[in-house]
Amino acid sequence: MNRRTTTLSASVALAAALALTGCSSSSDSSDGAASGGKPKLEVSGAFMPQPVMDMAGGFLTIKNDSATADKLTSVTSDISDDVTIHETKNQKMQPVKSFDIPANGELKLARGGNHIMFMELKKKPKQGEKVSIELHFEKSDPIKVDLPVEAANHNPQQH
Ligand code: CU
Repeated sequence: MNRRTTTLSASVALAAALALTGCSSSSDSSDGAASGGKPKLEVSGAFMPQPVMDMAGGFLTIKNDSATADKLTSVTSDISDDVTIHETKNQKMQPVKSFDIPANGELKLARGGNHIMFMELKKKPKQGEKVSIELHFEKSDPIKVDLPVEAANHNPQQH
């Protein structure tokens, strides 16, 4: 196939895709989202401090590069059957049903604040190892993340 033909068919496909997108976003504007589209989530800065007992915390940032808000609703992992999401209020932590991930914003899980809580660890991961988790969202597909295990007192915010 020569180059001209390839370019031409690609642009036809693109035009068709654009027409399709325009159509679907106008039809689901009834759910209140101005633009329709899917949330675009990106996870960064994930880690787990090496656990000292049979529980551990998990921290990461989820950036939403879209006009559609989402929610982190649950976290699962092979390392524990009891994984919850916690907020910290007045230095006390308590489980929450979900965390908001604002449109064009981010959800930050950090020491002293919101975090993932792993209870009754099936094994204690050591510094340098990785713990696989899966993040579940209200709208987006689940995202798998490897949490590098850092020193027990690791805190990237303290520099
Ligand atoms: Cu907690």
